[in-house]
Amino acid sequence: MARILITSGPTRQYIDPVRYLTNASSGRMGCSLAESAVAAGHEVVVVSGPVMVDYPSEATVLWVTTTEEMLDVARQEFATCDGLIGVAAPCDYRPQFVQGQKISKTGQPLVLELIETPDIVATLGAEKGSRWVVGFALETEDHRFRALVKLEKKSCDLMVLNGPEAMNSDDNQVEVLAKDGSVLASISGSKPEVANHIMQIVSQRLVQA
Ligand code: C5P
Repeated sequence: MARILITSGPTRQYIDPVRYLTNASSGRMGCSLAESAVAAGHEVVVVSGPVMVDYPSEATVLWVTTTEEMLDVARQEFATCDGLIGVAAPCDYRPQFVQGQKISKTGQPLVLELIETPDIVATLGAEKGSRWVVGFALETEDHRFRALVKLEKKSCDLMVLNGPEAMNSDDNQVEVLAKDGSVLASISGSKPEVANHIMQIVSQRLVQA
């Protein structure tokens, strides 16, 4: 049995008090992985952005809004976990300046300067020591190559490659890639089915007996 940290869902980066940048991540893959991990007997901590899914009651769920908050909370929790499954889709950019008041329309184009947010999987991957990290990659071209570059760059032990059709859908089609570039599994099905198969691989290859 392991204590597994799962980052799940999107994050939000505010432009002004009422407007924000985000993406279409539903949290369903994170929720399915949390269910599979609980069913496999693992302790589960979920750090989730704002989503409507019902995480399993056995899991500890910590809610966050921004990518920076997700990193802070995930980093704190990772200290007591054996591994991380980074299935969240954190916002990669935030406005350099957040307006304190609602921006009024002027009839002119609004220019937003965006800067990069921290990468949670890469940050925790660099600090992982003897713990393991599973990343997810959503690619639209050069799929395997780009996923393997991310696996290496973010110090992951496994990378789950999926396409953009995974976003906000009930089904998913993934490849699980290992560090040596081999394809450990090609899985397609409902998100709960895909999650179960991914958890089997995680339990077999990464979780200490
Ligand atoms: O966005 P990208 O395709 O690089 O995401 C790949 C992996 O990195 C995913 O596991 C995702 O959860 C993670 N990620 C992250 N923090 C970010 C961006 C991505 O942890 N700011």
